[in-house]
Amino acid sequence: MLSVRQMIHKAVIPVAGFGTRMLPAAKAVPKEMLPVLDRPTIQYVVEEAAEAGIADVLLVTAKDKRAIEDHFDRNGELEERLAAKNKQALLASVSELASRVSVHSVRQAEQRGLGDAVNCARHHVGNEPFLCLLGDTIFSGDLLPSRQLVEAYQKLGTAIIGLEEVPAEKVSRYGIVGGQMIGEGLMRLSTLVEKPSPQSAPGRLAVAARYILTPAIFDCLDCTQTGAGGEIQLTDALRLLLEREPIHGVVLRAKRHDIGNPVDWLKTNLVFASRDPRLWEQLSPFLGDLLGREAR
Ligand code: UTP
Repeated sequence: MLSVRQMIHKAVIPVAGFGTRMLPAAKAVPKEMLPVLDRPTIQYVVEEAAEAGIADVLLVTAKDKRAIEDHFDRNGELEERLAAKNKQALLASVSELASRVSVHSVRQAEQRGLGDAVNCARHHVGNEPFLCLLGDTIFSGDLLPSRQLVEAYQKLGTAIIGLEEVPAEKVSRYGIVGGQMIGEGLMRLSTLVEKPSPQSAPGRLAVAARYILTPAIFDCLDCTQTGAGGEIQLTDALRLLLEREPIHGVVLRAKRHDIGNPVDWLKTNLVFASRDPRLWEQLSPFLGDLLGREAR
């Protein structure tokens, strides 16, 4: 375990995956660039990190996903034009985040899995604990996961995994943790299993796309063999980390939304629309009509 508790300065966001479940939409446009309402999914993820006080973000990208890096580059010509036309709200929408966070990128040479993607961050992260956010998952709620995890890290000083309770029949889709509850929504982990059968699952708390990782994860990733799906799995490396250091799990207070498949992407858009009163006012009569028509 780290002897001195360090601050969390950096976030790592893996966005290099092929996104096959989102094809053909994700062929030339990275799935992380698909919009939820007015902005690409990845922007919500970076905003969540910024809201937790992180000013340094590393995107782990792939060669065909340049659009993500471009999205976070300043576009001087566009900004000048919006300023000249006094379109302040639009100007803020394309420049405000860039003024709060510096966004870096590194390439994952080959899509060898989430664990391999995280390992690509080693040089940038150095010997510090860091926040890790999956680029295809966003959250809604008053306390977003990054802030919740950073606060838990400040108290506990260990690696922390964001958790979500899932129905028993769905445990085989997730990494499932087991351990001892030591406080409200707080678990000291004793085990982690990737996609267990409902009979063998250690519980119903699933790993939910947000982590604080200690730098020892990199050695663990080096020792991790190819696992499920022929990929280097982060869950397998976390199991090795658990042999070396304590890990805590925190049940997330926010609600998780995955945009990695068409149905969940559409549902995410509807949930976010329903949270915006002006938008919902325009959308709900239309949806009511549509549902009425379907019912006939
Ligand atoms: P997923 O497990 O959803 O995989 O990745 P995927 O390849 O993107 O999508 P499918 O399964 O083919 O539809 C979760 C996150 O990890 C990143 C993805 O970009 C996504 O944000 N990832 C995954 C990488 O960065 N590298 C990888 O090798 C795999």
